[in-house]
Amino acid sequence: MGKDIEPGKDRRPQRATAWEYAPAPESKDIVSIQDRYGLFIGGKFVEPLSGRYFDTIDPSNEEKLAEVADAGPEDVDLAVTAARSAWDSDWAGLPGKDRAKFLYRIARALQERSREFAVLESMDGGKPIKESRDVDVPLAAAHFFYYAGWADKLDYAFPHRSARPLGVAGQIIPWNFPLLMAAWKLAPALATGNTAVLKPAETTPLTALLLAEVIQEVELPPGVVNIVTGAGETGAAVVRHPGVDKIAFTGSTEVGKLIRRAVAGTSKRLTLELGGKAANIVFEDAPLDQAIEGIVNGIYFNQGHVCCAGSRLLVQESVFEPVLEKLKERLQTLRVGDPLDKNTDLGAINSRQQLEKIEELVEAGVEEGAQMYQPECLLPERGFWFRPTLFTGVSQSHRIAREEIFGPVLSILTFRTPEEALEKANNTPYGLSAGVWTEKGSRILWMTERLRAGVIWANTYNRFDPASPFGGYKESGFGREGGLHGLAPYLELVDGGGSR
Ligand code: NAI
Ligand code: MG
Repeated sequence: MGKDIEPGKDRRPQRATAWEYAPAPESKDIVSIQDRYGLFIGGKFVEPLSGRYFDTIDPSNEEKLAEVADAGPEDVDLAVTAARSAWDSDWAGLPGKDRAKFLYRIARALQERSREFAVLESMDGGKPIKESRDVDVPLAAAHFFYYAGWADKLDYAFPHRSARPLGVAGQIIPWNFPLLMAAWKLAPALATGNTAVLKPAETTPLTALLLAEVIQEVELPPGVVNIVTGAGETGAAVVRHPGVDKIAFTGSTEVGKLIRRAVAGTSKRLTLELGGKAANIVFEDAPLDQAIEGIVNGIYFNQGHVCCAGSRLLVQESVFEPVLEKLKERLQTLRVGDPLDKNTDLGAINSRQQLEKIEELVEAGVEEGAQMYQPECLLPERGFWFRPTLFTGVSQSHRIAREEIFGPVLSILTFRTPEEALEKANNTPYGLSAGVWTEKGSRILWMTERLRAGVIWANTYNRFDPASPFGGYKESGFGREGGLHGLAPYLELVDGGGSR
């Protein structure tokens, strides 16, 4: 029942506080979480030789969800050995159409169990259920479907060259899109005939372990996918292992640099997908209401834990005021809270460590003289939370304009001409993504040709498709994932070979 409306009173809904959404929590009953998880090696869950376990918690209430094995170098060695023997014995020689069948089965199983995966993802990592349900899980399934399609067509993908798998791929993934990043790594590796040792992030291992169950169910040959949980040390052991032929890493630029040093001088292939500080550029002729939604989606999606987040908003000076006003109004309507509530827009920050990093950078922004705006909203008492935040009065030298915050924090700068927008957008050590908002097609083309970013969205933001390659320039890394381009990093391509 709504409240009575007095005659003559403005009937438009008042912003934010006029009415509230009733709670709409998704049930947790669909997931069954074990007390303790071993490592997934050679098709089986095994206890770690290290004897160590660590806790993974729900960041929205700090409650422990499960204990997870902490793989030591000896465990990583077992996983690599299992991956090598699977590659030698059957996997690499299996016809592509048969490899494809396994990928299709995994994709279908993800769809069948999508609700379970979505709830578990939101519990372990804090992201809103509407995102895990509508973005992470469907895109993960789509990725397996897409690469299943390539498995028997590698000769067509690379005409006049013969494509050979590399061997064992060591794959290290972050906590912002745990299942989706597992799919981005495993699907192309398997489609091309490699085997894999996957290292999920320490705060979000549970959906990778549920994926291990799916892998058992679909009867993927043992050892084709191995999953070793643990923190940075475990990742470093995967990188160092001499039996690994290729490393694929997604995470911080800092760790990316360490990994690049560690593989220098070895024959290991490497792809790095690292951080970003993307410019989302709004011209005065842009459809502003649509742009507001794109700005919000660009920086507040997944609490801003997104490497391609549109964290630097560049607004043409003539529309700065209306954009700011609309944006502030829109921020007041964002709902922050229980990740499992279907109406939640911003869930929990992934970890205490990440929250501290966001707080530190936001403090730096205030100290350096930028003006902060946050809507009023109540935050739950337990767990890790941060209000959607924006800064105006930001100059290019401020830390909040240069460093990746990886949280729901937007820095707004202005520009007068397209040249100035371009100069500011490219003034960053990163180069992963960018957004351009304008009615003019020619301006979109002019900008996209000159922006040094791997992915550029026009009049939209944060859209993903498995057929579309993704990756960076400069300190955002190198190599592409997704699309035809995403096959190449897992293949040795020999000129003159191939059947056509
Ligand atoms: P991180 O780079 O430490 O973690 C990513 C993965 O690398 C995790 O699985 C971690 O266990 C592993 N790892 C850590 N140290 C390693 C090492 N020496 N060798 C091999 N693997 C290692 O990222 P972290 O500390 O969780 O986040 C710090 C910042 O990094 C964030 O605030 C954000 O700015 C950025 N980041 C960027 C991501 C992206 O998608 N590009 C994802 C995660 C973080
Ligand atoms: Mg967790």
